Amino acid sequence: IGAASKAGKSRNLIEKMDESDKNMVILYGSQTGTAEDYASRLAKEGHARFGLKTMVADLEDYDYENLDTFPSDKVIVFVLATYGEGEPTDNAVEFYEFIYNGEPAFSEDTSEKPLSNLKYVAFGLGNNTYEHYNAMVRRVNEALTKLGAQRIGPAGEGDDGAGTMEEDFLSWKETMWAELKEVMGVEERESAYEPVFSITECSDLTPDDDTVYLGEPNKNHLEGHSVGPYNSHNPFIAPIKLSKELFTVKGRNCLHMDIDLSGSNLTYTTGDHLAVWPTNAGVEVDRLFKVLGMEDKRHNVIDVKGLDSTSKVPFPTPTTYDAIVRYHIEICAPVSRQYIASLATFAPTDAAKEQMTKLGGDKDYFSEFISQRYLNIAQVLEIVAPGQTWSDIPFSIIIEGLNHIRPRYYSISSSSMANNKVPSITAVVESISLPGAPHVLKGVTTNYLLALKQKQHGDPEPDPHGLTYAISGPRNKYDGVHIPVHIRSSNFRLPSDPSKPIIMIGPGTGVAPFRGFVQERAALAEKGESVGKTVLFFGCRKSSEDFLYQDEWKEYAAKLGDAFSLITAFSREGPEKVYVQHRLAENAKEVNELIKQGAYFYVCGDAAHMAREVNTTLGKILASERGLPEEQGHELVKRLRSSNLYQEDVWS
Ligand code: 2AM
Repeated sequence: IGAASKAGKSRNLIEKMDESDKNMVILYGSQTGTAEDYASRLAKEGHARFGLKTMVADLEDYDYENLDTFPSDKVIVFVLATYGEGEPTDNAVEFYEFIYNGEPAFSEDTSEKPLSNLKYVAFGLGNNTYEHYNAMVRRVNEALTKLGAQRIGPAGEGDDGAGTMEEDFLSWKETMWAELKEVMGVEERESAYEPVFSITECSDLTPDDDTVYLGEPNKNHLEGHSVGPYNSHNPFIAPIKLSKELFTVKGRNCLHMDIDLSGSNLTYTTGDHLAVWPTNAGVEVDRLFKVLGMEDKRHNVIDVKGLDSTSKVPFPTPTTYDAIVRYHIEICAPVSRQYIASLATFAPTDAAKEQMTKLGGDKDYFSEFISQRYLNIAQVLEIVAPGQTWSDIPFSIIIEGLNHIRPRYYSISSSSMANNKVPSITAVVESISLPGAPHVLKGVTTNYLLALKQKQHGDPEPDPHGLTYAISGPRNKYDGVHIPVHIRSSNFRLPSDPSKPIIMIGPGTGVAPFRGFVQERAALAEKGESVGKTVLFFGCRKSSEDFLYQDEWKEYAAKLGDAFSLITAFSREGPEKVYVQHRLAENAKEVNELIKQGAYFYVCGDAAHMAREVNTTLGKILASERGLPEEQGHELVKRLRSSNLYQEDVWS
């Protein structure tokens, strides 16, 4: 049941569009929020450039049985992310089941081409490192075509795996707009910026008033009595039970944290993810206010409202400029080329305006100047107009044009068997100096975690780069030993029968879920259960540097006995790189034997290279050990995947 129906709202999309006088709806299927962000960009652009009357909607908020009566002078845009192994995102499941699986039954039309009146546009977000690349948009497109609907423009596909999502989107949408404009009979207009949100200063309120939101995600949190269920809309502010560094070397720290979920209804199962709601670094918050010339008013209380009944403000109000920037928008993420272009007209000097226009229009220049150096918005503005402030930029465009902060997911590194209320996470915090970049690149969430750890231990702020991270919320709820979290369940699971053998591949922090897996199997063995062969391939740089949980493995080995093997690959100890896949190949015979015995094979860590290479290596092993042509080895791996014996928890 979608959020709309829970709130008693109508699930009739056609009615909703009529009532709010819209002719273009952008429906998104989104898991982590990227598809939703693209959807709202299309809505804004459709309105600003072509005068289309646009709205954005969550796929799960409407029913689709009446799609056959969708008016032919309106259009639906589908922005669909593909999740995991070719699955729909959670909010798209119902729609997908309806349109793709089986024969959709429409309320009125019974003809063969019931959707012949429907005009639609489609863009998919996928990752080519997964086997079912962009399966969602492809299948939905296929289903709609079969039902007679008329697609406008090509069905776009963005590839996160190749890192070209943004450019794929930009080039797709130009072709699409050109066609859509004709079909809808609209002209492109001079697009002056039109705000979606209005911002009103509330001079009668101060940040000390207890009705003013200072980072709290909702009313219950504001009033100090947060209630569950805790989920992706409502975090639990959890105490950090334990935090420590597993290793520290120059520019890299590895953190281990135990999070206490008691006091909430949250529990987890081994293999799940912990979602962490981050806070932006203080130094970047300061940088943005400085470059916008807003330092003196950043703590003013403001009210933000959608100028139209379908535009939702992505945070609660009244609030302050500071709270919005610190807790709600991604000011540290790479900026899009389109956004840079839209800021040109607000430049403080002609030279800056020219530079912004060039950056917005020239893909290669943009890539060299901004993408390759990972500059965030404030850094770009600083560099483009040194010493100037961009005080003409309306704050509404900052809220509308930057994505809103979403939780980050960490593979839980403990077993839920002993205690399903205290998940652990394991994260590497890195500071990266990119050639030619004016600032050291720091991950938002990992550095937030590091700051929390430092705060908890009363470490003197080390601050080697002059960066101070904001770690305490104004009302001290996020006081350094608390962290906003929820649990996301996963399909990454141990076999229910512990006597089945398992093979785990987890280099670096990819070992996280396997600490949980091994802990669990060790506890089962201790209880006297028969536990199958448990093989872990772990890789890191040096045995003396970043060998995670080095001492713990010995404890588990003592409990598991011969059932446990740890096979290590230290990549920077010898003259040549040794990786987990090399070790896998060296152990081909045993690996093949275990697979024959029905072993489960797990991979966790880097998607782009490691997971791919491991996949290929396993195919080769199975082929050579069984005397088959290589292709058949790869076929076998595919079959393992589809029968859930090959599972991945990977990230790019
Ligand atoms: P490297 O950094 O020395 O190249 C954890 O990050 C470990 O994974 C490190 O030892 C790292 O080695 C290694 N690694 C890097 N690229 C890899 C790849 N393509 N496949 C497997 N392991 C890799």
